[in-house]
Amino acid sequence: MQSEKLRETLESKDDLFTDILGQESIKKELKSALISGRNIIIVGPPGIGKTTLAKNVAKISGLNNFVRIQGSPDITVEDILGDIDPIKALKYGPLSIEAFQKGKIFKADKGVLFFDELNRCPEKVQNALLQVLEEKKATIGSYDVDFDLDFIFIATMNPEDSSTEKLSDVLLDRFDILYMGYPESRAIEENIVKLKGKKICEVPEKMLRLIVYFIRALREEKELEKKPSVRATLGLYERSQANAMLSGRKKVVLEDIKEAIISVISHRISLKPSVKYLESTTEFVERQFKKLNTERLHDESGGEG
Ligand SMILES: Nc1ncnc2c1ncn2[C@@H]1O[C@H](COP(=O)(O)OP(=O)(O)OP(=O)(O)O)[C@@H](O)[C@H]1O
Ligand SMILES: [Mg+2]
Repeated sequence: MQSEKLRETLESKDDLFTDILGQESIKKELKSALISGRNIIIVGPPGIGKTTLAKNVAKISGLNNFVRIQGSPDITVEDILGDIDPIKALKYGPLSIEAFQKGKIFKADKGVLFFDELNRCPEKVQNALLQVLEEKKATIGSYDVDFDLDFIFIATMNPEDSSTEKLSDVLLDRFDILYMGYPESRAIEENIVKLKGKKICEVPEKMLRLIVYFIRALREEKELEKKPSVRATLGLYERSQANAMLSGRKKVVLEDIKEAIISVISHRISLKPSVKYLESTTEFVERQFKKLNTERLHDESGGEG
């Protein structure tokens, strides 16, 4: 049984989910949920490592079948469960099991079924999943298909996404939810950037600190409805380096970061309705960056920089 194998791994080592830095309490909850064989939804804003963490489960479990379903409004029940193949139906008879073409869920047997952005899929799909999780059974057209499937079910969802369906209470009741947030500290986020960001040229520690500090300060801004993710931090880190290179330098300077902020950040944030008519996101980001530099850099570096 895949769950037993996974359980052994989970009990044997402390630091298992090494693709994710920090997030210790989530990691512990995830372990606990996996050990008890729960269905899991990782909930949180975009770009904080939900997908990375879910993929890490497959990696550590040594399970080869990792099936990923990308939730979207046009995903169908047939994509997931299966469908009737008309040619086979003619050959074997319309109600014969041979005519049934297995969907993605079957490929996850003895492995991990990873449903990314579960709340972006239509209600019909949710209901089909419900039946599968509950009864290991599904109804497709006039078929009742029995599943004898054994898989770990992990889903992710971003509650702020506006293009989503509300998950029904009955579906939610079948899951344990893990709430994941932004990296806990500046030091952790700096390490994420160092580890995961592309290296194009040198980023002095002071500049790296500034990049991370700036994004984290934006997350604290009360005027922001949508906050910048770790992808924004990574983006700023990479684009600043590219800008330095294009200016013929081997080291990132403040100007390189400044040149990158609009393109990296302004579309990744949104202002609350009460302020968005007073200022555009572009103006907001520029103003915040200026503010940061006058206040913060002066304090930290004794006026240089
Ligand atoms: N704590 C972390 N440790 C390591 N890498 C991280 C961490 N948080 C974010 N990242 C990095 O940020 C990027 C985005 O992560 P990922 O795609 O897993 O996010 P997500 O939460 O699934 O986003 P979305 O909701 O948009 O699908 C990846 O490059 C990932 O490695
Ligand atoms: Mg994701």
